Amino acid sequence: MNILIVGSGAREHAIAAALHRSPQQPHIFCCGTSLNPGISQMTYHYWTGDITDVAAVTKMAKEWQIDLAIIGPEAPLEKGLADALWQNAIPTVGPKRALAQIETSKSFARDLMQKYDIPGLPRYRKFQELNGIPAFLAELGEGQYVVKANGLMGGKGVKVAGDHLHSFAEAISYCKEILAQGQEVVIEEKLVGQEFSFMCFSDGKQAVPMPIVQDHKRAFVNDEGPNTGGMGSYSDANHSLPFLSADDVQQAWQINEAVLRALSTELQDKYIGILYGSFIATHQGVYVIEFNARLGDPEALNVLTILTSDFVTICQAMVTGSLSADQVTFANQATVCKYAVPQGYPDDPIKDAVICIEAVKNKSRLYLASVNAVDGKIHATGSRTAAYVGVADSISMAEEIAEVEVRGIDGPLFHRDDIGTDRLIQRRIDDMRRLRGA
Ligand code: AMP
Ligand code: GLY
Repeated sequence: MNILIVGSGAREHAIAAALHRSPQQPHIFCCGTSLNPGISQMTYHYWTGDITDVAAVTKMAKEWQIDLAIIGPEAPLEKGLADALWQNAIPTVGPKRALAQIETSKSFARDLMQKYDIPGLPRYRKFQELNGIPAFLAELGEGQYVVKANGLMGGKGVKVAGDHLHSFAEAISYCKEILAQGQEVVIEEKLVGQEFSFMCFSDGKQAVPMPIVQDHKRAFVNDEGPNTGGMGSYSDANHSLPFLSADDVQQAWQINEAVLRALSTELQDKYIGILYGSFIATHQGVYVIEFNARLGDPEALNVLTILTSDFVTICQAMVTGSLSADQVTFANQATVCKYAVPQGYPDDPIKDAVICIEAVKNKSRLYLASVNAVDGKIHATGSRTAAYVGVADSISMAEEIAEVEVRGIDGPLFHRDDIGTDRLIQRRIDDMRRLRGA
């Protein structure tokens, strides 16, 4: 069987690894933006180019006689790559363009939740002009709002009062900036609590959950510094997180299921692929931060590393509408993922430095990300470079493994040595307990 992976980061490396260990031994093909040697060592053919060029990727898929495609990142989903592949009779994991609006349009996602009365919706309003914005900001209150650009902004379109915006004047000036780019503005109530990622597989009728993961967006130790694509993440052996109650998990799961039902009713189409709910546990229950229409990066690394069932079977079941919970099993182990990123990342990263991974002992849990192989050397291209996933019986033990191994990635890089440590996990538990007033 010929399987195409679209994308060439660490998430796609983890997808390739999960396919590669399948007893079905598929032939793996990749369309990526750069030559990731972690992926290319497992592929039959590897094309590099613009993966948002729908016609070019579709042409490669036809030429390679692809039987099943998996789209990693959101940008090709927004361009309608899934639509084009299905039109060419290539079953695809990843929703069609209209369904992917659950990620690509923040106002679509909020409006859908409102229309279908789905719990976890913060107070929000959308604006196409400045008119009404000052009044809504005042209604939410100083320090109590979040301003978002409606469309995909590579994780840089959201500014939070208190963190990035320090007055109504600053908020209004950011709104003007968004409107000047021709984008809609979404303003919503600021939620306070612990964020978590809850992803599931969907075949259009049935959804099956993956272990819950917590990502770390901030660049530096103790959650300081600018937002990034995600510096690392952890999951626990019981597939929940130490600060979540069973009720939190249940609420989040019901929201994911309700959104999938709402999407298929609203758009009269099947959502085939991954739905990733980004949630926040607050003192008033679980709320939705946003939805993504794909696997998270780094979250995919945590979950796919401990997937014990056949990923090829899961993908086939998603595209044929025959997904069931018994096809999806994960080891009851904790994982800690740490990303090594270029010095200066995210604002002013060193580009094109050569890195060396020789000192990493267990390379099967090392995932290469923004790298390019040139003449047998690995160049770090400027975004997140490589991630290591420690797996053990406890988060604490998994952290120790990840910390030792990530240090083995040699180059002008840095990582967060606090992700997954007992101290940081305890802080999350204490913060949540304080919020709940216990
Ligand atoms: P997003 O791009 O929507 O994932 O937002 C980026 C980050 O902004 C999230 O990970 C949250 O930390 C923060 N954020 C987004 N929406 C809210 C909200 N309503 N309340 C508090 N923080 C938010
Ligand atoms: N972990 C954040 C994301 O994948 O969007």
